Amino acid sequence: CGIVGIVGKSPVAGRLVDALTRLEYRGYDSAGVATLNKGRLERRRAEGKLFNLQKKLADEPLDGTIGIAHTRWATHGVPNETNAHPHFVEGVAVVHNGIIENFSELKEELAAAGAQFATQTDTEVVAHLLAKYRRDGLGRREAMHAMLRRVTGAYALAVLFEDDPSTIMAARSGPPLAIGYGRGETYLGSDAIALSPFTNEITYLIDGDWAVIGSEGVAIFDIDGNRVSRPRQITQAAAYLIDKGNHRHFMEKEVYEQPEVISHALGHYVDFASHTVKIETGAIDFANVSSLAISACGTAFLAGSVGKYWFERYARLPVEIDVASEFRYREMPLSPSQAALFISQSGETADTLASLRYCKDNGLKIGAVVNATESTIAREADAIFPILAGPEIGVASTKAFTCQLAVLASLAIGAGRARGTLDAADEKELVRHLTEMPRIMSQVLNLIQPQMESLARDLSKCKDVLYIGRGTSYPLAMEGALKLKEISYIHAEGYAAGELKHGPIALIDENMPVIVIAPHDRFFEKTVSNMQEVAARGGRIIFITDGKGAAASKLPTMATIVLPVVDEIISPMIFSLPIQLLAYHTAVFMGTDVDQPRNLAKSVTVE
Ligand code: G6P
Repeated sequence: CGIVGIVGKSPVAGRLVDALTRLEYRGYDSAGVATLNKGRLERRRAEGKLFNLQKKLADEPLDGTIGIAHTRWATHGVPNETNAHPHFVEGVAVVHNGIIENFSELKEELAAAGAQFATQTDTEVVAHLLAKYRRDGLGRREAMHAMLRRVTGAYALAVLFEDDPSTIMAARSGPPLAIGYGRGETYLGSDAIALSPFTNEITYLIDGDWAVIGSEGVAIFDIDGNRVSRPRQITQAAAYLIDKGNHRHFMEKEVYEQPEVISHALGHYVDFASHTVKIETGAIDFANVSSLAISACGTAFLAGSVGKYWFERYARLPVEIDVASEFRYREMPLSPSQAALFISQSGETADTLASLRYCKDNGLKIGAVVNATESTIAREADAIFPILAGPEIGVASTKAFTCQLAVLASLAIGAGRARGTLDAADEKELVRHLTEMPRIMSQVLNLIQPQMESLARDLSKCKDVLYIGRGTSYPLAMEGALKLKEISYIHAEGYAAGELKHGPIALIDENMPVIVIAPHDRFFEKTVSNMQEVAARGGRIIFITDGKGAAASKLPTMATIVLPVVDEIISPMIFSLPIQLLAYHTAVFMGTDVDQPRNLAKSVTVE
């Protein structure tokens, strides 16, 4: 799921693997590195964590001042050493992110012509195609161009040819790739963070680009082979300190960073003094749009699902929300009078990007709520709404989620003003509540830590957990369940509290805890009735509520977590905190790899 390359002046293997560690956060299950030394391609590959690759390199070092390296998140073929990249075929080395969609057809064709395949990967066809074109007498560039015209799907590719010790070739269609410029050295990386120890001067390839990267110069071409120029930019990625501080895991650090990053995010969207929103909605004319289509994946989708309640309530703006992988295929009628909003921490999620392009083709104006403002989704949007959470390294999203919520809440208030559904006094009141959020978040984080730890001990013994909530607490229930299953591997489901009686209630027994998320809001009484249904069937309740809610409910619970009473507009962010910490501590008890849970990737650039 990550690529790096160096055309260097000094040995590169160690530096390549160091750069891969900066891409670890994206998730991976094997890794490899290849260098070209004295006219020979050599590689080391290992299953599992980078540590295994580092051990191999310590035993059998690799020389060479040019090389490519890769962390793989398996799509085709199990994550073992054979399937790990780089793949070698007759003097060609290839690393690849993405999926070559026509690989079976190409594989058949190549095999019929005598090619022997060593792996189960789709990537190997790229190496075979390149080798074939070289055998046919094509030069290196011609072979690269010919190969690119045959493959379809999503790819970021880096290629080394054994007969050229001074060049890496690269191509992009889908997953991001950036070229970095140093002193007498040139670099390639999946993102600016990977390149940040080397340089802050970078060029992003855009879809369809391919590049010939030498130590002194870079030539970029489009798919027709025409030379194109792409801007060089100075990236801020190096400014971010990627370390855990005093925390055991990035996830824990990121949970505790929330009060700070939320204030940055809010600082961008609201005026703390006058209590007004200050949003440049740019190309999106909220006052006149007929409806809003939101699509996103995973946690970002759940942030959007909370956002739907806000846009509809405060701005009277109808919202359609979908997981991005469904949105583009369900052939929803779209019209240019609508606007579309895409929420993505990484800004690179393939499904979200595809939905964005689908809406763009249908003439909708596009807004992007992203953390990575240099990402593809950001670049293709008409209006960018940064969430300013700073790099999120833990695969399970925490601070990005609450920052997405803060931005969506601000946008919904801004839209309400623009549409005349909120007056100045309403706006002031809502923004005043948003402004209090960072303070309340720190208070809550300090308050609940010990209780979350002891509760997590109980939860870690469970096989299944149900989360329920109403209103904005419903998507939050789904986020709680997602967080728990992602990092502790305990089966969990999030349900609308009112839907419990239509099915999941059949599951309730004394072994299955039901986590009820119920601030004392407009729906409180109704949620308590649903809790009652659980209690009547012997279910064990973990009640996450506020001071008023705790006082109002007399039901016996396994635990009650009492948060401060807050306004409805900020309760999803505040109630996220116990949910995150509960999942975190449960995972710690279970001894899982909290920051890089099995099978998951931080940035999913395949559909
Ligand atoms: C992956 C991650 C999730 C994330 C989702 C969407 O599945 O593991 O944590 O919510 O992608 O990512 P995005 O970068 O688009 O927000």
